[in-house]
Amino acid sequence: MIMPASPRRRILIIDDNPSIHQDFQKILATSESSTSLDALEMAIFGSPQARGGGAYSFEVDSASQGEEGVQRVKEAAAEGRPYALAFVDIRMPPGIDGVETTALLWKADEDLQVVLCSAYADYSWEEVAQRLGINQRLLILRKPFDNIEVRQMAHALAQKWDLSRQSRRRQEELAQAVAERTQELQASNARLRQEMDDRARLEAQLAQSQRLEAMGRLASGMANEISSPLGFVSTNLNHLRLALEKRNAGVPLEDPAELLDACRDAIQGTDRLKRIVQDVKLFARVSPQPGVAVDVRKVLEQALTRIELPAGSRVQRVLELQEVPPVLASDEGLTQVFLNLISNAIQALPADHPEPRLRLGTRPQGADAVVEIQDNGAGIEAEHLSHIFEPFYTTKPGGSGLGLSICHGIITGFGGEISVESAPGKGTTFRIKLPRAA
Ligand SMILES: Nc1ncnc2c1ncn2[C@@H]1O[C@H](COP(=O)(O)OP(=O)(O)OP(=O)(O)O)[C@@H](O)[C@H]1O
Ligand SMILES: [Mg+2]
Repeated sequence: MIMPASPRRRILIIDDNPSIHQDFQKILATSESSTSLDALEMAIFGSPQARGGGAYSFEVDSASQGEEGVQRVKEAAAEGRPYALAFVDIRMPPGIDGVETTALLWKADEDLQVVLCSAYADYSWEEVAQRLGINQRLLILRKPFDNIEVRQMAHALAQKWDLSRQSRRRQEELAQAVAERTQELQASNARLRQEMDDRARLEAQLAQSQRLEAMGRLASGMANEISSPLGFVSTNLNHLRLALEKRNAGVPLEDPAELLDACRDAIQGTDRLKRIVQDVKLFARVSPQPGVAVDVRKVLEQALTRIELPAGSRVQRVLELQEVPPVLASDEGLTQVFLNLISNAIQALPADHPEPRLRLGTRPQGADAVVEIQDNGAGIEAEHLSHIFEPFYTTKPGGSGLGLSICHGIITGFGGEISVESAPGKGTTFRIKLPRAA
């Protein structure tokens, strides 16, 4: 086994007797292990190499008084070459005694290991413990001391000093790593929050631009819609005006029945205009309203009672209403949506359908409520399917084409979703997902 190069550890002897300094030099300042120590370690550990930390060599300094010793410890620490341990005599006249010195040494260097050396019972252990506190950095050595005992103490304490410094370094590294990690986490947290804010802002912008787009489509659709009834209302009114002017001029009316028809047509035209205006008003009212907790099943059942089926209708109505949480919406808004979807479904069921069926369903999905309005009618051809939510898109003569775009506006306004699934010739399902009310 290769041993690491022997680390050199610094030891300070603080004793008023210079001959003691020399004794310690002799005992400690040899780099190679003494045979007797090796023999002892052989007996204890099985081999000299088995010693943890390897053999130390020591650099031994000495001071004759407590104050001087404290000064040297301070200097050594400041130079970055701290002492690992100090052997401190208890009695050092005329200066401060060993116990007081030790207290000051620890103030100067908190890692320093101390061995208090005493020939007399100057202090009892209790007194030392009381003055310095029970301290794992302190050992007491009785004089006259045994050389091997001193060497062994020096090795053990030097190793303890190493280990405690290592563990402190580890702790500092760990604390540093934790601090860095925490900082990283905080930074990524802040990034995430920023991204979420950005996303929310983008979504709001998107919703706003979608709404503007819908409004734009509505405006151009409306212009198209009203131009034809407006055209024939104005033609018919002009026709009537001319006829009445002629009559005022004394010319008798040529065909009063035809004039009455023109009147009726004009009124029909204004009715059509009125309806468009009403629909558009309704559409314009679909601004996001604050939702309240609504019992969606109740609203759905009530909407169904308000639908008038043609006399003799064979439409079978199936209700599959599972319990769902209260949703965030408004009674009025949801009624509007359900009425539109149910009338569309009924209109999609041809009179000669063998088994016309309308199914209304509710079911919970996660925290949300799902409503389905399903018919087994005509279905929607693929070419129409992607347009049906656009304002004025209709395949029905006399239809406004606003029903579904109103539904879409209302549902998304409540933070919900509306989707459609359809198979031509088999039927259509409109599915609405609404968020649970808090
Ligand atoms: N259940 C359904 N089955 C088949 N087609 C449907 C169904 N619901 C909607 N559609 C199609 O979607 C189009 C748009 O529907 P929307 O409700 O917006 O307007 P409309 O029904 O045509 O007009 P209005 O609602 O004013 O009567 C309809 O013209 C129809 O082609
Ligand atoms: Mg409709």
